[in-house]
Amino acid sequence: MKKIIVSILSLALTLCASAQVKVSDDRISVNTGGMSLILNARQGQPLRFVYFGARLSDADAEAIQFSGSRPMNAYPSYGQGEIREDAIAVTHADGNMSLDLAVESVATDSTKDADILAVTLKDKVYDFRVKVFYKAFRDVDMIETWTEIFNDAKKPVVLRKFDSAFLPVRVGDVWVSHLYGTWANEGRLVEEPLNRGILRIENKDGVRNAHTSHAEIMLSLDGKPSENTGAVIGAALCYSGNYHLDLVTNDSDYHRLFAGISADNSSLTLGKGESFRTPELALTYSDEGLSGASRNFHNWARAHKIMHGDKERMILLNSWEGVYFDINEPGMDQMMADIAGMGGELFVMDDGWFGDKYPRLNDTSSLGDWVVDKNKLPNGIQGLVDAATRHGIKFGIWIEPEMANTVSELYEKHPDWIINAAGRDVVKGRGGSQVVLDLGNPAVQDYVFGIVDGLMTNYPGIAYIKWDANMSVSSHGSSYLPADRQSELNIRYHQGFASVCDRIRAKYPDLVIQACASGGGRASYGVLPWFDEFWVSDNTDALQRIYMQWGTSYFFPAITMASHISAVPNHTVHRVTPIKFRIDVAMSGRLGMELQPKDMTEAEIAQCRQAIADYKSVRPVVQFGDIYRLVSPYDGLGIASLMYCSKDKSEAVFYWWRIDNLYDNHPPRVKMAGLDPDRMYKVVELDKAPGRPLSFEGKSFSGSFLMNNGLEMPFGFSDDMMGYSSRVLHLIAD
Ligand code: GLA
Repeated sequence: MKKIIVSILSLALTLCASAQVKVSDDRISVNTGGMSLILNARQGQPLRFVYFGARLSDADAEAIQFSGSRPMNAYPSYGQGEIREDAIAVTHADGNMSLDLAVESVATDSTKDADILAVTLKDKVYDFRVKVFYKAFRDVDMIETWTEIFNDAKKPVVLRKFDSAFLPVRVGDVWVSHLYGTWANEGRLVEEPLNRGILRIENKDGVRNAHTSHAEIMLSLDGKPSENTGAVIGAALCYSGNYHLDLVTNDSDYHRLFAGISADNSSLTLGKGESFRTPELALTYSDEGLSGASRNFHNWARAHKIMHGDKERMILLNSWEGVYFDINEPGMDQMMADIAGMGGELFVMDDGWFGDKYPRLNDTSSLGDWVVDKNKLPNGIQGLVDAATRHGIKFGIWIEPEMANTVSELYEKHPDWIINAAGRDVVKGRGGSQVVLDLGNPAVQDYVFGIVDGLMTNYPGIAYIKWDANMSVSSHGSSYLPADRQSELNIRYHQGFASVCDRIRAKYPDLVIQACASGGGRASYGVLPWFDEFWVSDNTDALQRIYMQWGTSYFFPAITMASHISAVPNHTVHRVTPIKFRIDVAMSGRLGMELQPKDMTEAEIAQCRQAIADYKSVRPVVQFGDIYRLVSPYDGLGIASLMYCSKDKSEAVFYWWRIDNLYDNHPPRVKMAGLDPDRMYKVVELDKAPGRPLSFEGKSFSGSFLMNNGLEMPFGFSDDMMGYSSRVLHLIAD
């Protein structure tokens, strides 16, 4: 009988195949246009990883088993035979802490965009299964991989570790690029060779999982990372909560990448028949260097992973740095008139508009009380929506729905809705009174959904929401979860978050939503499926933004990066940079403004008006084009430069920023990239420096010349440039 089942199953193994996934006997190739992942799925054996890299021909995919490389366990488990780190560890009801997973079946499936491979692994003794998924996209070079873990036994199983994926990477001169940071310094790039030991990239904030380390990495396989040459693997964990990415290097000939939800203090219990799905790890490969891997991430993001990835973003004014909490109706009306007058398309009213019993005058109160402060806004939100319509722009609003202040009517009514360890003092954050709501609690989920639903039902004219989140989970305890499930708090929070976001998107598919979390705390593929963009940082200083946006662009397209022109001295670092420099940096992302327009000079207003018009003329290239990073600010050459090229190479936008003030420092001439060598490109400067025409304005050069030689950017010193000269060029093919 057993034999028959095996032969039926092996027939299934041979037959199930789809365009991107080919199954032949026990060998499986998962392909995209430019990538292959090869596995070996022999029944009764562990699933084996064979290869990940450039797309293989069928012949090479067949022959690779003889290439001498050692197959590795594709999803190593703890406790039986596996002595190194593992991707999954469990405790069975009888106390047994081991797993021994073997291939049971293989299946394929197709969606509109992708083909999916599912390999079911079953424990040899226990009623416990893991399905390992690989989703290969047809139109982009990305494979998403994740698992689903099933307890088929009668009694509960405790999951102690439950990674999304494991990937071996052949040892060599492999370097890792990843992002670190903190508030006002998010997305900073670090590049380092992989050495012996464990490099752990993790975040355990509980809410804002991208402020410090980021859940995305690139691995340069051919030595020190280079922008436009060399083999690169990219990986991004698509999760909004606590995570870890471990790069383990020991005595083996493979670096071993483990990525998943952080299981620290977060063990999960699966009851009889219950299952748990881990978040996706998105994997890409490029032999066109770091920028090539970035293009793969950006293409995938716009097509599949961010909300409205195919829609142009509006140019906006956000009120925060302009007026902070000083919201009032005439003030909002003036800001709307001013941004409309400069050609902007949207006005966003930030913090400070709400609270009845406790009006939000500063950050010490009112979160949770999402009713308009009638003293500040006598005509309410509808009055503002109507004013925006009168000015010919859209209206947006700030909320922080996952949070409360202990000084709020919400907290007075529902003190049990907050996250805090039972019997202990409430740990308070921002303003000395902020707390995090327990999103694992369905009643809280309904309440959070209701905030957005209430606003949108009452004021359907709201076009944009800035969704903020300014506190960590700082005390561990849920009054909703039972005592034996307290360890699930962090995971339940993010399941609740996802479910609220699903409900919002089901009802409000067109609403634009920005993910803000004390600045860039939610620059993450864990939230972007529901959000259009993120606020890169509360630090709007143009110089520091060059560094932050450079790193962020490794993984996230310009369309997601909210990048605003702000006032000087900068409110965070107090640096003074010229308006042109601030514009030229902001124009490399999703352009916006973050200042009080009535404090601007006429000349500044005129320059911003022109820059906004210029940005509109290149918006599709910036927001949907291919990125080529050219000179890194991190290389100490005194400049930074990058460009975006339209997919058909008929247009490009080139950015050049001088980032030091040193006399007798001669920055390199920048060679462009991504152009068609055989086409002629006319050069038109954008955001022109008044009185400083470029010698090549209106002239045409071949793509080949621009890529092999480049243009000389004037970088002299002058009062108005203050050392921070910059240029933005629009290249238009004849
Ligand atoms: C956070 C955000 C800011 C602003 C304030 C409002 O710090 O990052 O952009 O919205 O909150 O309180």
